Amino acid sequence: MSILLTGGAGYIGSHTLTELINGGYDAVVMDNFSNSSPKALERVEELTGKKIRYYEADISDRNALEKIFSENDIREVINFASLKAVGESVEKPWEYYNNNIGGTLTLLDVMRRHGAKNFVFSSSATVYGDPAVIPITEECPKGTCTNPYGWTKWMLEQILIDMQKADNEWNMVILRYFNPIGAHPSGRIGENPNGRPNNLMPFITQVAVGKLPELGVFGNDYDTPDGTGVRDYLHVVDLARAHVKAIDKLRENPGCFICNLGTGQGYSVMELIKTFEEVNGVKIPYSIKPRRAGDIATCYCSPEKAEKELNWKAQFGIAEMCRDSWNWQKNNPDGY
Ligand code: NAD
Ligand code: WQD
Repeated sequence: MSILLTGGAGYIGSHTLTELINGGYDAVVMDNFSNSSPKALERVEELTGKKIRYYEADISDRNALEKIFSENDIREVINFASLKAVGESVEKPWEYYNNNIGGTLTLLDVMRRHGAKNFVFSSSATVYGDPAVIPITEECPKGTCTNPYGWTKWMLEQILIDMQKADNEWNMVILRYFNPIGAHPSGRIGENPNGRPNNLMPFITQVAVGKLPELGVFGNDYDTPDGTGVRDYLHVVDLARAHVKAIDKLRENPGCFICNLGTGQGYSVMELIKTFEEVNGVKIPYSIKPRRAGDIATCYCSPEKAEKELNWKAQFGIAEMCRDSWNWQKNNPDGY
């Protein structure tokens, strides 16, 4: 019995693959490598000592999916495969809706044809929009997204909820990630963005390694303690381990289970820069820039449901996140 990881060569997928294999689970990967490299899978082989079975294929490719499902005994799927660049999604909405929603619908159809009705979905804190309450609990209503990427997560959540309501053989675990950063402590796998990074931590590490001259801090006039945006950063290895718990959860037939994944602690942009500098002994030149369109002031979660019902709690703190992000970047300045 195998777990299929779509997008399993990506940042979160490769870490989850490592944790699943180390936990004794059997996994198969499919990835079209649109935002990743097969080298990540070689590195996972190196870390786990196990050969990784993988298919270079797209989740929109029904024939490829049929082949994967007929060659493997797959009962559960973790669907990481998605385009995820917020700005690009504004420029290319069709591509985002087609890849993320269209692709996932094809995947779900092939899954049900093969009687594999257990699904873990990578959702995002972005579905809360500008959150009605802080810390954000799962009861907090979903909000208005500011970009097509966010809407793909918002809409897919609804699709999964409706499908499970109509057919209770389905089990859907919807995980709303807050801000994953960090890398495997070995420094062998990590985040490898194409081109100029959009997210804060990869930007910081690329400044630290000298690939970018300085960081722009997007706004210092928010209603936060130091005026810069506050987020709930979590270590990617903790996040990966939450997926192992999500598989265990699926095996209890939960129906539809929705859960936030974060530490419950908010840190500002300036706090992250300062911690990174202190922990790693490197300077991050920065300057204050205007606010970025669509950004919110504060976003952090209540991690209580994850602790009580998923039996998961983040173990790593912000210092370890900064240490491991830098360890990855300095050992792999050009990625894989
Ligand atoms: P990533 O880009 O590193 O990984 C996604 C992987 O999916 C890549 O390997 C890419 O090649 C693959 N992929 C994309 N479209 C595909 C398709 N049609 N068929 C097959 N493979 C395809 O991104 P990540 O950061 O590892 O994110 C994983 C998931 O988590 C995504 O669904 C993302 O939206 C979600 N998420 C990420 C964050 C974050 O900050 N990183 C936050 C919330 C949610
Ligand atoms: C964090 C903070 C910025 C870059 C995004 C997506 C979300 C999810 C995670 C996938 C903010 C500030 C950033 C920079 C800066 N992804 N910043 N200078 O915006 O919380 O969430 O990634 O689902 O959907 O929207 O993360 O890392 O981009 O920004 O000052 O160069 O850092 O303004 O306050 P965000 P982020």
